[in-house]
Amino acid sequence: MKSTKIARTLDELRLHADAWRDLGYTIALVPTMGALHEGHLKLVETAKREADAVIVSIFVNPLQFGKGEDFDRYPRTEEKDLKKLRAAGVDLAWFPTVEEMYPEGFCTTVHVEGPAKAGLEDAHRPGHFDGVATVVAKLFIASGCHVATFGEKDYQQLQVVRRMTRDLNLPVTIIPVPTVREESGLALSSRNAYLEPGQRETAALIHAELRRAAERLKQGVSAEAVAFDGRQALTEAGFDVDYFAVRNAETLQPVKDQRAEPLRILVAARLGDVRLIDNIAA
Ligand code: PAJ
Repeated sequence: MKSTKIARTLDELRLHADAWRDLGYTIALVPTMGALHEGHLKLVETAKREADAVIVSIFVNPLQFGKGEDFDRYPRTEEKDLKKLRAAGVDLAWFPTVEEMYPEGFCTTVHVEGPAKAGLEDAHRPGHFDGVATVVAKLFIASGCHVATFGEKDYQQLQVVRRMTRDLNLPVTIIPVPTVREESGLALSSRNAYLEPGQRETAALIHAELRRAAERLKQGVSAEAVAFDGRQALTEAGFDVDYFAVRNAETLQPVKDQRAEPLRILVAARLGDVRLIDNIAA
């Protein structure tokens, strides 16, 4: 097991990142909010294949949480996370501080539209993607990373980050990583920690319904009917469904020509006060 260095300040981060660049190493960044699970570790594994040095950032970004969301109760498990990063052979664990990421008087943000204004997550979490885009741009710039890995689990986020990277000409290659699931099909998520044991079984229905929807689309059932039925099935199972949508896989806009466009099915649904999201290719 090689040693994982730790950086908290930007100076500490740059000390390592600059040295690696001087040696001609390529750097991969894996941005996370911690409470690490196998999904995050898959991102790390991919990053290791793509670059010479891997940095994992752990920062619960206040800017992307809305009022009444779970910023305060979001799981913070630094010691456990560090153990996992060491075992995974990560070169640097970076724990940015709020004081440095958002200095006194902070008033400059990245505003995103396009896939960030598709009426999916954005309709239920206003300002969320501006918060994500702002922190991701800052993490890219501070680390000087050449590549960064993002999970398909947060599919709208992935499309927003791709678009932003292109629009701002950031010299970073975005690598998507397929969703890691439990055997039941439930997508791994730090927020699964909020689920009661009995709710886990129900939560797995989200993936089952996504698969059924993908199958029906292949059989030629219309996107509208598939979305309507998916929402209904989850509602009957006890979910409060925020959306169950079939969209263009790249722009995330509503489907115009079902047979010609790449499709993605996306869902967000609440079980009690736990909000779950998932998606699948169709
Ligand atoms: P977080 O929810 O910690 O997720 C960090 C990364 O792990 C994201 O790219 C996410 O898509 C990926 N991920 C989460 N669960 C996954 C799973 N089951 N399979 C594969 N990948 C998975 O997403 C964020 O943090 C933040 O918004 C962040 C990008 C760090 C900006 O603050």
